[in-house]
Amino acid sequence: MLPMTIISSLIFFTAISASALEPRAKVDGPCTGKSGIGGVCISTSSCTKDGGSYISNACPGTPDDIKCCTKPNCQSGSQSGDCRFTDKCTGGKPILSNLCPGPNDFKCCITNSNGQNLGQLILAKAKTAEGTPYHWGGGNCNGPTGGGYDCSGLVSWAICQVTGRNLFSEGLRVTRSMYCASESKLKYKKLNFADRRAGDAVFFGGKCDCANDPEGIHHVGLMMNSGYDMWNALKTGTKVRKDNFQNWSEKPCPKVIRF
Ligand SMILES: *[C@@H]1O[C@H](CO)[C@@H](O)[C@H](O)[C@H]1NC(C)=O
Repeated sequence: MLPMTIISSLIFFTAISASALEPRAKVDGPCTGKSGIGGVCISTSSCTKDGGSYISNACPGTPDDIKCCTKPNCQSGSQSGDCRFTDKCTGGKPILSNLCPGPNDFKCCITNSNGQNLGQLILAKAKTAEGTPYHWGGGNCNGPTGGGYDCSGLVSWAICQVTGRNLFSEGLRVTRSMYCASESKLKYKKLNFADRRAGDAVFFGGKCDCANDPEGIHHVGLMMNSGYDMWNALKTGTKVRKDNFQNWSEKPCPKVIRF
């Protein structure tokens, strides 16, 4: 009996170690897809729904319907790129949401935006609204509402147009919500005002005190340079335009948001 036991355990352990040598994939994890392009292991239905294509046998160890999905072309307006894991989209390239299949960290990495960063693209989009009237509460993802934009409506609209991200539905559209949100909720960095550059969001509101007076934070615009020019929907009676705040009695808040 003893030799038989040894033989069967040998067979058993050989089987285990052979399968352990095969690379294993995870659902929502990376894989190598069609033409050797990096992809994501997801269900075939969610792959095709979002315009991807898949190959079989590239996500070993996952359920039958999970396959390696790739989407080598994604675009929004004049910007285009490919879908990849965001940690592979380096060098400050813009990352656009809602254009790729799969999990939240598999996104459209923009490779042709002429070296412009995301803030510059958002500013450029906001500039196309030049002359639109200010309207309190105005703006959504698609454009002006009630005949115009208010300050945060203009900024949130431009973000939505460029990135596909909807701050209106995320509860971040109101100026104070935007300024006071944590970086993790915002998914954008906050930097010191001194480090501002074109495309950053700049805020106004007294002491800009999120803990004690969030209501006081009342205005947001987009920096046009590292000085004091701001593109914005300022107030009732004005139209979307450039303003210079260098000599305003109200000073900007200590932080800017970088997109
Ligand atoms: C702000 O005031 C300074 C000093 O008086 C002046 O040099 C500058 O041109 C002013 N800026 C604007 C935009 O009016």
